[in-house]
Amino acid sequence: MIENSVVVRPAKSLSGSMRLPGDKSISHRYAMLGGIAEGTSKLENFSTGADCASTLDCMQCLGVQWERNGPSVVIQGSGAKLRKPQEPLDCGNSGSTVRMLSGILAGQDFTSELIGDESLSRRPMARIIKPLEMMGATIESHDGSRLPLRVRGRRLKPIDYPLRVASAQVKTSLLFAGLYADGVTRVEEPIQTRDHGELALQAFGATIDRQMREVSIAGGQRLHAIEATIPGDISSAAFFLCAAGLFADSDLVIRGLLLNPTRARLLDFLIGLGMKITMTDLLEQHGELMGTLQVQGGTLRGARVAGGDSAALIDEIPVLAAIAPYTADGIEIRDARELRVKESDRIASVATNLRAMGATVEEFDDGLRIAGGQKLHGATLDSFGDHRIAMAFAIAALRAEGETEIRGADAAVISYPEFFTTLDSVVQR
Ligand code: S3P
Repeated sequence: MIENSVVVRPAKSLSGSMRLPGDKSISHRYAMLGGIAEGTSKLENFSTGADCASTLDCMQCLGVQWERNGPSVVIQGSGAKLRKPQEPLDCGNSGSTVRMLSGILAGQDFTSELIGDESLSRRPMARIIKPLEMMGATIESHDGSRLPLRVRGRRLKPIDYPLRVASAQVKTSLLFAGLYADGVTRVEEPIQTRDHGELALQAFGATIDRQMREVSIAGGQRLHAIEATIPGDISSAAFFLCAAGLFADSDLVIRGLLLNPTRARLLDFLIGLGMKITMTDLLEQHGELMGTLQVQGGTLRGARVAGGDSAALIDEIPVLAAIAPYTADGIEIRDARELRVKESDRIASVATNLRAMGATVEEFDDGLRIAGGQKLHGATLDSFGDHRIAMAFAIAALRAEGETEIRGADAAVISYPEFFTTLDSVVQR
């Protein structure tokens, strides 16, 4: 990735009307299931991020043909059996691609190799290796947990598996593997995580059984192509929602946004902080809820994020932490140790950048405490090669005194290549 810098100047408010590229979590799942379904899937508003492009490229190496025209992707499903790839599958920066695709590869009758960039090669994979091996796949890895992975697939055995880490990627991986097992695979989660895997399987015609925090799937089911418009990514919207919240005069409308309840905890949190958010035009497609939000800023109080909320807000915590100094009472984040094994160590990245802007921050093994009522100044910051850190600090910079330079800002391409241009179009200075 070429290093580039973006300079962000302070703002007065945010206003206007916008739509966001399709949700990353849903785009990955639809691309994978579209590839192993029968028939032609037509996906509108597919994520424009590099991560979902990695998934599409891997599917192509596995023999799946697709065509892309801007945000429209048409996938010719290959059916459950994929083709042995001629080269390693490059997952780039995308943990979702490695973890969820491994579930499908575990059920194929060939061996494939998964590789990724430097950040992805540091991230833990034992969480999928262990259960997929219990199902009968053989997975070689570096040190038992890191890329490259060599996945030798086979007809799988079903398992009954209690997840130790709350991870939707792992849950989805095992449900995908369950399609290739002789019998019923059951996954139990410690707390409910995003349910796009379950909804996508149902959309493509699979029957699954969902009871509270347990999901079961019978193997051998055939999937059928779908047509869908993917709702806007709520984790990308989080940057604009938080930015709007920083200014009393903001008035921002976001249309066609994903409002799936397992992702929308963010909205309750922001309303609790003091933002005014109204929801209209609700619509459901393939089980996914979407709608329009109107957001107005105000005085932000403070909050604590812990327990199940930390898992539900895991991708939004960097931007919540970045606006925390501007709240009246500050924000404390705990039970979020998983942040340390994301695209960067997000607890350390956030603390380093906030301190560079002059904030006082307490860092814990599993979170951060950031006092409210602080004044920040512009600074030279690093994205640490992490898309959400680059975007979170563009938002912190809007209320700082002076200009902020974000080095490695191009990391935003991973989930939201249009971020800086769109931000400029709604920021009033
Ligand atoms: C995702 C789940 C989360 C999240 C990631 C996307 C998904 O990861 O952080 O950005 O689409 O299932 P974990 O499963 O590691 O919690």
